[in-house]
Amino acid sequence: MEDYVLQMNHITKLFPGVKALDDVTFDVRRGEVHALVGENGAGKSTLMKVLSGEYTDYSGELILNGEKVSFKGIKESEAAGIAIIHQELGLIQTLTVCENIFWEMRSARAVSSTGITNMTGQRNCSTS
Ligand SMILES: Nc1ncnc2c1ncn2[C@@H]1O[C@H](COP(=O)(O)OP(=O)(O)OP(=O)(O)O)[C@@H](O)[C@H]1O
Ligand SMILES: [Mg+2]
Repeated sequence: MEDYVLQMNHITKLFPGVKALDDVTFDVRRGEVHALVGENGAGKSTLMKVLSGEYTDYSGELILNGEKVSFKGIKESEAAGIAIIHQELGLIQTLTVCENIFWEMRSARAVSSTGITNMTGQRNCSTS
């Protein structure tokens, strides 16, 4: 049996007057890295917002690590291990890619003038 981390099956998402996603199926096996490529308006961001629970009004199913999931918001998807960096939002230029990903998971009092301390993501981003 294939070891799928993520299966997005027959995802359709409508906006008023626009079918942003039309029966999209997207699978990720463990250890794979994918680039989702498409022209402006192709639906890349919408697909990621479906995955992260930002949109709940879609049809189709999400299966994460073999279990059907239906996130009601990004807090739920984050708790399940989904992290999204949206292109439209500013990144913190002084942090690494990994630290930006885990930035939202930081604890309160995480920021000092010398950088980030006591950050949950620090452990995850450590290279040592
Ligand atoms: N909040 C929204 N309300 C209405 N229509 C939307 C909304 N968000 C996206 N759309 C439409 O859905 C379609 C897919 O948009 P989406 O932003 O997912 O594309 P994209 O592939 O991420 O594009 P880009 O490369 O420009 O980031 C487009 O036709 C877009 O105009
Ligand atoms: Mg986009």
